[in-house]
Amino acid sequence: MSHLAIYPGSFDPPTNGHLDVVDRALNLFDGVIVAVASNEAKHPLFSTEERLGLLHTVLQGRPRIRITAFDGLLVDFARQQGASAVIRGLRAVSDFEFEFQMALMNRKLEPDIETIFLMPKEEYTYLSSRIIKEIARLGGAIGAFVPPCVADALRSKSSQPVTNA
Ligand code: PNS
Repeated sequence: MSHLAIYPGSFDPPTNGHLDVVDRALNLFDGVIVAVASNEAKHPLFSTEERLGLLHTVLQGRPRIRITAFDGLLVDFARQQGASAVIRGLRAVSDFEFEFQMALMNRKLEPDIETIFLMPKEEYTYLSSRIIKEIARLGGAIGAFVPPCVADALRSKSSQPVTNA
């Protein structure tokens, strides 16, 4: 029986920290489903299609990975996909409260799916998509924090004129 894990997130955009967590999950599971939450209510900078495209590029060459989008409840999607675990990256104590609440609620909804927290490399503990978007918007250097195609995509978003729409 193969063990599948699902790694859900907004990935708006994917960072080096996300990639580090994917690699750690691949060391533990037979397959990893990277699941992009559409999260339109969060007004993501990148569309779902753009985030999927970036993930396909940055994860190219890694074996045993599926990249897909999902809407609705994570546990429903995980069950449909046959995943037995949800992977979440845990960077610092500040992540813990929200992650703990989400893990326990997901367990209540679907007791058979375990949440597993993986710690990214220390050098990525201060990375977040939100901070990287802000640095990019303000013209700071982001090359050390995201893969080159993500840095390019962020630069081109930052150079687009702001509309009132
Ligand atoms: O990268 P993020 O934004 O921290 O990821 C959060 C995500 C997408 C994992 C979470 O919002 C989620 O699971 N959304 C799907 C809807 C759902 O199942 N909500 C109930 C969670 S207890």
